[in-house]
Amino acid sequence: MKISVIGCGYLGAVHAACMADLGHEVVGVDVDAAKVALLSAGTPPFFEPGLPELLRSAIASGRLSFTTDISAVREATVHFIAVGTPQLAQTAALDLRYVDAAVEGLLPHLRDGDLVVGKSTVPVGTAARLAELVRSAGSGATLAWNPEFLREGFAVKDTLAPDRLVYGLAPGDSVGERLLDSVYASALALGTPKVVADFATAELVKVAANAFLAPKISFINAMAEVAEATGADVTQLADAIGYDARIGRKFLNAGLGFGGGCLPKDIRGFMARAEELGVDQALSFLREVDSINLRRRGRMVDLVTEVVGGDVAGKRIAVLGLAFKPDSDDVRDSPAIDVAVRLAALGADVVATDPEALETSRRRFPDLNYVASVDDAVRGADAVALLTEWKTYRALDPTLVGSAVATRAIVDGRNCLDPVQWRAAGGCTEPSAPLNVLAGANTQMR
Ligand code: UDX
Repeated sequence: MKISVIGCGYLGAVHAACMADLGHEVVGVDVDAAKVALLSAGTPPFFEPGLPELLRSAIASGRLSFTTDISAVREATVHFIAVGTPQLAQTAALDLRYVDAAVEGLLPHLRDGDLVVGKSTVPVGTAARLAELVRSAGSGATLAWNPEFLREGFAVKDTLAPDRLVYGLAPGDSVGERLLDSVYASALALGTPKVVADFATAELVKVAANAFLAPKISFINAMAEVAEATGADVTQLADAIGYDARIGRKFLNAGLGFGGGCLPKDIRGFMARAEELGVDQALSFLREVDSINLRRRGRMVDLVTEVVGGDVAGKRIAVLGLAFKPDSDDVRDSPAIDVAVRLAALGADVVATDPEALETSRRRFPDLNYVASVDDAVRGADAVALLTEWKTYRALDPTLVGSAVATRAIVDGRNCLDPVQWRAAGGCTEPSAPLNVLAGANTQMR
């Protein structure tokens, strides 16, 4: 199958490389010449495990190329739209200008039998409008909506072996279905479930999944607030309720809450769309989900402040982790960055590090003080704030950190260290009850 992918950001670059890996001939098109140059050289402009190897082998095989020239799509039959849908500042609705421009840019090059496939997350109703745009251009091409559910850090695996495939098709578009079946033949052969739906359902599946996952995280963080008030252990609570198969343990890690380029934006965009549709009441729970999530960041700042004696001004705070989650260099709406920036605004001398996100952080937040290693961050610090649960941070040596830090305190915002082990290593016999908060996440050594 000959495929084009319009938009070679995070989603598009991963999709293009994976499709080529499956044996398709793929051209990726992007307006950003610097991005195209990097991708053509086999270098993703972002961190994603497994992607550099995949890109290089696909380019070497001759099945994958990148260009800024939209006319290159003429060779292809299936055209994926993978451009961004950022949030509009005023209304929280999603900005569709890039999706619209991508489809309009494709129109002059489409031929009879071609299929335009939307992957971007869009407000419900967008696919029907764009399908009409494609139809009225008269090429004979059609449009499908095929939402993407990949997680950063697992993007290659999620694309090659997805949990499910969702096709949003116009009524009776069997040609579109067959083309998508050919594109995804290897996933279908693995037994991947396929849901064929109308446009609105396919668009909604994506936002509904996020509108389910985000509350799950905020639920456990709400329980963390109650646990903090009662001395209960929210991790044990999550383990115990997670054994119920109807609940499940995944996405029940309490801590700093969710961030990134998708969950926060998508739930706010969904609320904005519901308001336009006159069903805002149906999603009013998402407002509470959002505010529980944002409260975690303030609580973390309060905890660090407590640990250093009530005022962070002039205190050196080591920040471990800046990415919105491990195995990513993405700092979009990162809770870790938010906490670091708030601490700096309170006058703290923040010294931050991250295994992969230093470059992206420096670009977006040039005023923070960055260092390359944990050793450099913790040396002479008054306290440590662990904000992203990278594997290397989970494996930190308590004695090493303890000996470098004045208060001997590490506030674990991701609930990923074993408090008992850390206290024992610091010679602490009594658990420090007043600080055993933020999801039982705070660990103090004395
Ligand atoms: C998410 C969805 O999972 C994915 O299906 C969708 O396509 C895009 O948005 P992603 O943003 O890559 O993917 O990250 P995800 O792994 O879902 O984590 C989102 C945020 O929630 C992170 O900040 C993470 O740290 C946080 N989180 C996750 C928790 O705080 N607790 C948890 O138990 C799980």
